[in-house]
Amino acid sequence: MKITIVKDYDAMSDVATTDVVEVLKNVEKPVLGLATGSTPVGLYKNLVKLNEEKEIDFSKVSSVNLDEYVGLTENHDQSYRYFMNNHLFNHVNIDKANTYVPNGSTTDFAKATADYDQLLDSFGQVDLQVLGLGANGHIGFNEPAEELSLNTHVVELKPETIDANARFFASKDDVPKKAITMGIASIMKAKKIIVLVSGAAKAEVLNTFNNDLISTLVPCSLLKLHPNVHLIVDEAAATYLK
Ligand code: F6R
Repeated sequence: MKITIVKDYDAMSDVATTDVVEVLKNVEKPVLGLATGSTPVGLYKNLVKLNEEKEIDFSKVSSVNLDEYVGLTENHDQSYRYFMNNHLFNHVNIDKANTYVPNGSTTDFAKATADYDQLLDSFGQVDLQVLGLGANGHIGFNEPAEELSLNTHVVELKPETIDANARFFASKDDVPKKAITMGIASIMKAKKIIVLVSGAAKAEVLNTFNNDLISTLVPCSLLKLHPNVHLIVDEAAATYLK
């Protein structure tokens, strides 16, 4: 695992941008795995600017997002589809038909999860997976648990995740209790994974990268099994990283 510690959020976003640009410039039909939340917003802003400047091209890019809230339609301003459109897809020359977010507003989750796995299989391998990190160690919405699912599934969000995400909703009660998320195997299948981590709230969970143990109770620890991970951490989050 490559670890880069940088000064602040903007520097983290810049390093992440370099990794994404490298893939966009070197892969003919790039498949990007994308995350939502506060952490990748700076990265997406950089990508929009570089696309405006014609430095990078999204016309042959496909994307698969990690997760979506259960019960929110695409038009809900807190849905992850809305987030992706708003922060990236509406502002770059990507064909939206090639952008995929799990379907959280269906009533048939058996079908929605199977369809998403089939879609992921059809891509073979994601070229670059972007991950944020939950303060409890979740990646995607694979929450700490005795057992983790390999494939796309519906998950009950942990109280701490609901608390953390309440900042985006009018009240905590409005935060969906469930999400549909890519599983661990799908995440781990990517050729390269970049993990963006910013802020003191994420400092403690990074302790897991100081030892050689893995645990499903700290889902991000499983990233130690992947051969090509770049962990990009700002100083506030890196307090305990050795
Ligand atoms: C989002 C996702 C989550 C977030 C994580 C951190 O698609 O899968 O794992 O990356 O909850 O969220 P922020 O960046 O808001 O701290």
